[in-house]
Amino acid sequence: MYPKIVINKKKFRHNLKYLLDISHNRGISVMGVSKVFCADQNLIDILNEENIDYIADSRIVNLASILTDKPKVLLRLPSVSAAEEVIINSDISLNSELLTIKELNRFSKKHDLIHGIILMIDLGDLREGLFYDKDVFNIIKDILSLKNISLKGIGTNLTCYGGVIPTPEILTKLVEYKTRIETMFDISLGIISGGNSSSIELLLDDKIPFGINNLRLGESIVLGRETAYGSFIDNTYSDVFTLEAEIIELKDKPSIPIGQVGMNAFGKVPEFKDKGNILRAILSVGKQDVDHNEIIPFDNINILGSSSDHIIVDVSNSENLYEVGDIIKFRLTYASILSLMTSKYVSKHYE
Ligand SMILES: Cc1ncc(COP(=O)(O)O)c(C=O)c1O
Repeated sequence: MYPKIVINKKKFRHNLKYLLDISHNRGISVMGVSKVFCADQNLIDILNEENIDYIADSRIVNLASILTDKPKVLLRLPSVSAAEEVIINSDISLNSELLTIKELNRFSKKHDLIHGIILMIDLGDLREGLFYDKDVFNIIKDILSLKNISLKGIGTNLTCYGGVIPTPEILTKLVEYKTRIETMFDISLGIISGGNSSSIELLLDDKIPFGINNLRLGESIVLGRETAYGSFIDNTYSDVFTLEAEIIELKDKPSIPIGQVGMNAFGKVPEFKDKGNILRAILSVGKQDVDHNEIIPFDNINILGSSSDHIIVDVSNSENLYEVGDIIKFRLTYASILSLMTSKYVSKHYE
């Protein structure tokens, strides 16, 4: 059935092994981030087989479904209201709020569990994490008094919101926090988690400061791309995931609508360029599955737009002589992999 997202397991394994080897050679453990592929067990199995250190996801539903003997990590800060589900379905969660951590402690006690936490420190990207020194030290004092919480380490997240690029200087601040916390509280922090795929460039250049011993990697594994500059990583595949969509109509028609143009199905007034008649193909995939701006044709095709259930493309200049029923293939971005994997209307095919 089309549309179909085609997942090349060999290429996925290759990217994973490549990044795992580099990380491990530099003394860095890896949390494999599964949210972009909705924790599909076929790919989780590969993470298991290649001995990933942790499996991390932002959604509790995904973590609950994952079959693994690796520690499960909740990436998104837990909601207070979901504290019980969090301690049941994950071993470790990233945290920055004492109220939430106390709830995790309460439910861990109820279930006779010890829940691990990584305290998030905001080094300037302005998403999650404690921002001021005094808040970091105060919360640690409180965390250490909670009997069913184990402080596994500290971490930071960069680039995702503020676009801040990790540098050795910024990551050194996290290492300095580690040293100060360990000295002040006479404890040892096991995990110092220095970010996501935006830290890959530093990793490849061997510039991750000594003391950072963990990264949480999603995009670099699935798309072979680092996220500080958006460069593709040498020796990795960018086409682990591709989209195949079927032509359901193919007709020669004008390039601009006939009649007075008002709002389209999404409340926007569309604009068109008159290129005379063109060969227009309608594909049976639409906005409900993917943003048409986030798919890249392999072929010389121009994507004209989309509605909920259709993407319309101009195939006039294609080297292929398409017919109704033919399949058009697309490369994908992180955003399109995310939405296509999430859509229940897109079938998954593994090769
Ligand atoms: C806290 C956190 N860490 C790591 C990641 C993985 O990021 P990336 O896909 O850039 O490796 C994400 C996002 O998925 C995240 O929210």
